[in-house]
Amino acid sequence: MTEHIKTELAQGVLTIRMNREDKKNALTQAMYSALALAIDNAASNPEVRVLLLAGAPTAFTSGNDIQDFIKVPPMSEDSPVLLFMRALALFPKPVVAAVTGLAIGVGSTMLLHADLIYAGEGTRFQFPFVNLGICPEYAATYLLPRMMGHARASELTLFGEPFNAKKAQEYGLINEMLADADVEARALERARKLAGQAPNALRVTKKLLKRWGHSTVMDAIRVEAEHFGPMLKEPEAIEAFTAFVQKRKPDFSKFK
Ligand code: COA
Repeated sequence: MTEHIKTELAQGVLTIRMNREDKKNALTQAMYSALALAIDNAASNPEVRVLLLAGAPTAFTSGNDIQDFIKVPPMSEDSPVLLFMRALALFPKPVVAAVTGLAIGVGSTMLLHADLIYAGEGTRFQFPFVNLGICPEYAATYLLPRMMGHARASELTLFGEPFNAKKAQEYGLINEMLADADVEARALERARKLAGQAPNALRVTKKLLKRWGHSTVMDAIRVEAEHFGPMLKEPEAIEAFTAFVQKRKPDFSKFK
């Protein structure tokens, strides 16, 4: 386990908190493994009625740790990131997310697998994959167009620009926008209310809501990963990661 993932169970709500604020909650292999384990344990623990995903005031998460992308690119079906993705996508109970600060990369795509999302007005969302020479992951290429339409999904993924909570709400990505300081309390209040609902009725309703796209979502996670993994080692991504480490803008002008 890692001190960068904290869990706390109270009143039927398991809070899983990403806790590496000095690195903007960038997710390492160890953090993905700890997340996957905590989520799988929560699935089988009857005391857990609802999962609450939370981060830090300045960062829900800034996405995959870019140094990790360079050192240990996820290439296999059982890599920690894919274990995490499947654990959350298959989690049978309600998932509430409390989002403040940065929600970049997987910080935004994991929200597509939460059920209720409460975000601070200062949240910075971003699908920066193309900017990094890679492609979207976590079924975003299926879920985003389905959720908001092709034009908006193209805008968010092809430009890869940051966008704010107002736009996230307009595009249907979040349920409510709140003052940053109020996000956790509101998310917890909603999670506790869900924890008091009939648990089997909640599970069946969630399952049915996701049932119709389920096999495509699982397929998309796998097919995107088949592109994403090899792209991490291609020159476009190497240029982008090197630029990040050197704190400069990437130069893609030489690529065809
Ligand atoms: N991977 C690795 N390290 C990261 C990181 C990431 N995804 N996001 C932030 N960090 C690190 C920074 O390198 C910095 O480390 P340092 O203090 O050792 O230099 C620290 O976290 C603080 O971040 P910093 O860049 O100084 O904060 P900022 O407020 O100036 O900028 C971001 C924040 C998010 C704009 C910037 O960190 C960034 O672009 N991160 C990468 C985000 C990204 O592309 N993620 C997608 C992965 S798919």
